[in-house]
Amino acid sequence: MKKSGILQTDFFGKLANSPLVLASGVIDVSYSGMLRAVEAGCGIVTMKSLTLEPRKGHNGPVVAEFAGGFINSMGLCNPGIDSGLKEADDFKNRSDAPLIASVFAISTDDFIALTRKVNDSKADAIELNLSCPNVADEYGIPLAASKEKVTEIVLEVKKISRLPVIAKLSPNTYNVPEIAKAAENAGADALTLINTLGPGMVINIHARKPMILNKFGGISGAAIKPVALKLIYQISKLIDIPIIGTGGVLNADDAIEFLMAGAKYVSIGTAVYYHGIEVFTEIREGLINYLTTNNLSSIEDILPLS
Ligand SMILES: Cc1cc2nc3c(=O)[nH]c(=O)nc-3n(C[C@H](O)[C@H](O)[C@H](O)COP(=O)(O)O)c2cc1C
Repeated sequence: MKKSGILQTDFFGKLANSPLVLASGVIDVSYSGMLRAVEAGCGIVTMKSLTLEPRKGHNGPVVAEFAGGFINSMGLCNPGIDSGLKEADDFKNRSDAPLIASVFAISTDDFIALTRKVNDSKADAIELNLSCPNVADEYGIPLAASKEKVTEIVLEVKKISRLPVIAKLSPNTYNVPEIAKAAENAGADALTLINTLGPGMVINIHARKPMILNKFGGISGAAIKPVALKLIYQISKLIDIPIIGTGGVLNADDAIEFLMAGAKYVSIGTAVYYHGIEVFTEIREGLINYLTTNNLSSIEDILPLS
């Protein structure tokens, strides 16, 4: 991996070696997997969303590929907050890279309980997954569809969190900018835009059945990039807190588009399935080349569009 300070950026007072973020959920929760992402060039790591109790998730197949990316219905399989945070601490004992603990719940009380646990860990920030589209059969529509719910949860979590609070929002509602503003007003320190689109469906015509057992799944990858860019651009004009942009970043050019749309950090998920964890190395080197070719001295010199 090329060493260069040119991509270094601040993450709530901590130094990140690049603005590239490992998106939640695309690798397992082991500390060793997260360390590999950092070694490859990822600057900030987001863990798989953790719930109060362990979850097995849905039965497979849970992921299917189509021309524009993936659909998935993992069903939030995770080892539970206690085991997950042990991995977070093991990671932080070995790396200075900022770590975001992602948590999922459906009630304010459970978000508060999760926040107390994250407070006691070595994580550097907490991300509230308010937007998983794959568990609607169990829990109803995601909380991120409701301005009131987002406001209540962010407000209550902010009262007790010792860490910066990031709200991860859904693209699946017509008033995302209004909800984003409500999250900021409630005290969110950053937003992650966007979670998966949909859910959608992909059919195996030979087997005459849906490609994933759960029939529907959240869409990620190239197909959702224009949706993510539009929301980041629009919302960055409305708020003053930083945006972690995610949705369909496959290469350095995509990452630069996200920075130009107004994201401060660029998060990568599905591309890891295509290219392996080395995708961080490729994107990192592409960003360095872009800065050098354009005589820019730091990543902050890639200015957002007006
Ligand atoms: C297999 C898979 C699992 C995911 N699990 C989570 C999760 O646990 N929590 C979460 O907030 N987002 C989860 N996501 C969403 C990603 O973090 C990301 O927001 C989304 O996939 C868009 O980025 P991408 O196109 O780069 O993948 C998952 C995505 C995929 C493909």
